[in-house]
Amino acid sequence: MLILPLADGAELRALEPWNAAEFAEHIDRARENLRPWIAWATTLVDEETCRAFLKQYTDKQASDSGRLYGMWVDGTLVGGTLFRTFDTRMGSCEVGVWLEPAASGRGLITAAVRHMIEWAVCARGMSRVEWRCSPANERSVAVAQRLGMTKEGVLRSEYPLNGTRQDAAVYSVLATEWLARK
Ligand SMILES: CC(C)(COP(=O)(O)OP(=O)(O)OC[C@H]1O[C@@H](n2cnc3c(N)ncnc32)[C@H](O)[C@@H]1OP(=O)(O)O)[C@@H](O)C(=O)NCCC(=O)NCCS
Repeated sequence: MLILPLADGAELRALEPWNAAEFAEHIDRARENLRPWIAWATTLVDEETCRAFLKQYTDKQASDSGRLYGMWVDGTLVGGTLFRTFDTRMGSCEVGVWLEPAASGRGLITAAVRHMIEWAVCARGMSRVEWRCSPANERSVAVAQRLGMTKEGVLRSEYPLNGTRQDAAVYSVLATEWLARK
């Protein structure tokens, strides 16, 4: 995938280390929206830390263990999606997402994640696509529900964020379910 059009003026494409300056400016705009939910919203503070983060994902892509995409609207980077994990041996992957406030409320993330699930299931043979979020993250829960994912449970005290351990709700869609809906 080089460029995937999503809606008028919106597209999903690879977000790579050469985009670090643009990514750093985007994170500055998005930071307050992301900080309550995403650990790297606090640690990505400049072009250098952003480049290192993007490099982690080009390394994951090279080893087929994760991927990262940016979302641009009218030429401005406004958010993104990622395969935080991508385990071809186990047939399971996890999708993550983020947006700056200006781009939310348009269904762009739901549309982008549909493409990612479709690719993971149909092109890569994944059996299971996961979604993990804080049970308190209503907008993230709403995306999982809009995608028809099933809530499997809550992992208690699963990860640290801003000095406090957080629960993680786990949602998923199975390949059999995804294909049956088509
Ligand atoms: C999670 C997050 C990406 C969701 O963004 P979002 O804009 O709500 O999600 P979408 O792009 O799918 O848009 C859905 C909204 O667009 C509306 N919409 C408009 N057209 C739509 C369409 N064609 N299809 C689906 N939804 C559409 C929906 O009704 C919904 O709006 P509502 O919540 O006011 O009802 C965003 O809230 C965010 O960045 N949060 C902070 C980071 C975060 O929590 N990331 C996830 C960590 S687990």
